[in-house]
Amino acid sequence: MRTGEKLPSIAVIGAQWGDEGKGKITDFEAGRADMVVRYQGGSNAGHTIKVGEEVFALHILPSGIVRPGVINVIGNGVIVDLISLDKEIADVQDRGRSVDGLRISDRANIILNWHRLLDGAEERLRGKKGVGTTGKGIGPCYSDKIARNGIRMGDLLDAELLEERLDTVMPMKLKTMEMLEVRLAQTRDELLSELLAYGKKYGRYITDTSVLVNDALDHGKNVLFEGAQGTMLDIDHGTYPFVTSSNCVAGAICTGAGVGPKRVDEIMGILKAYTTRVGAGPFPTELNDATGELLMNVGGEFGTTTGRPRRCGWLDLLIVEHAARLNGLTQFAVTKLDVLNDMKKLKVATAYEIDGKHMEHFPGNFMMLERAVPVYEELDGWQGWKAGETMEIVRGGYDALPKEMRHYIGYIEKRSKVPVKIVSIGKGREETIRR
Ligand code: GDP
Ligand code: IMO
Ligand code: MG
Repeated sequence: MRTGEKLPSIAVIGAQWGDEGKGKITDFEAGRADMVVRYQGGSNAGHTIKVGEEVFALHILPSGIVRPGVINVIGNGVIVDLISLDKEIADVQDRGRSVDGLRISDRANIILNWHRLLDGAEERLRGKKGVGTTGKGIGPCYSDKIARNGIRMGDLLDAELLEERLDTVMPMKLKTMEMLEVRLAQTRDELLSELLAYGKKYGRYITDTSVLVNDALDHGKNVLFEGAQGTMLDIDHGTYPFVTSSNCVAGAICTGAGVGPKRVDEIMGILKAYTTRVGAGPFPTELNDATGELLMNVGGEFGTTTGRPRRCGWLDLLIVEHAARLNGLTQFAVTKLDVLNDMKKLKVATAYEIDGKHMEHFPGNFMMLERAVPVYEELDGWQGWKAGETMEIVRGGYDALPKEMRHYIGYIEKRSKVPVKIVSIGKGREETIRR
């Protein structure tokens, strides 16, 4: 075991619309982990890690890949983009990291070219009502998985099985593509040999990862479950239909990693100190003004996967409460508090007024949400924190933080009834305070 000390198994879950800093906090926590497990989503995720001057942007590899000696698992609930996997493995190897500890579930579905083509075609047909997807084929791939038309990682290791699957699935997909006027630039035989080649290349990583993860837990290893996306992008509990196509809440760990509900001890919500969202959909506390622009520029709010600017707004306590309840959060890590430095006043939404009604729980109707007027409380900001002082503040610990910042954190705790255990005040691994 890396630390010699048995720690609770822990989940890292996005509390908002993604990009809360899950990569950074997973990497921070992975210093004590033996195993990091991704269990949902695909390469729509973009998790950034900064170690010294090195920056990693991971889409499909779990964030533990940056730490030597960690076993990194891509669970059955993830959908695997083989092109992205190929690129990312080459990139981390070029940068001196080993992928020997990588394991990929034999049950994980694969994103194929038709998923990418259909993602694009569906978005075009939605027109102005588009979801603003990442274009990675996520929706069509998860749809096929549920419709039992998927190809799985394990299929790549068995030519006979793979041929049978392709011959069952491909004619249906060709019909759908014809209807939606997109064309696959690949024959059945070309696709078959491409997939078999991937099987040869990655066969040694493909295994029954549920057995692996449960064994690790049984042997007292420290296991971390790394979520992708966030609670508000969850297919059931997010701002449907402006969501991703997987469950992103903590419950997805069971199905997506193949573990029972009692195997996760601590569930940490990652909460950005303000709110951002990429893509379309309702966003009640969005700021379409100079303050929103300031947050975007100071926070460097540009998508890790698509480079799109992220929409920015104030912290929303209805979302904080929603995330705490749906995930059964036992703690929060609050990130990017440094981005709010030097703002005189900070606003926090405590309720919505919708059609004359006062609401304290996040509603499911997206048209109602578009009419929501946030009720704000104004809190004092903090000033006078000079650039370059961050590590001095980190060394001083929680009590060295400005008192207004501690009050802001206390405000989150009061509403959610969830303690804030980690405070992140910079991109770097070290710019983090554990309380
Ligand atoms: P993820 O998808 O949740 O892993 O988040 P992303 O990596 O997509 O986006 C978070 C961005 O914020 C990345 O650029 C991180 O380097 C950065 N970041 C994370 N924590 C902090 C922090 O506390 N302060 C600042 N300034 N940046 C942070
Ligand atoms: P991480 O893990 C932020 C958004 C897309 C789009 C919607 C549906 O980095 O937090 P999809 O391609 O999944 O069908 O797109 O979901 N989205 C994300 N936004 N962070 C992410 O991941 C996201 N993954 C998907 O922008 O609005
Ligand atoms: Mg991201």
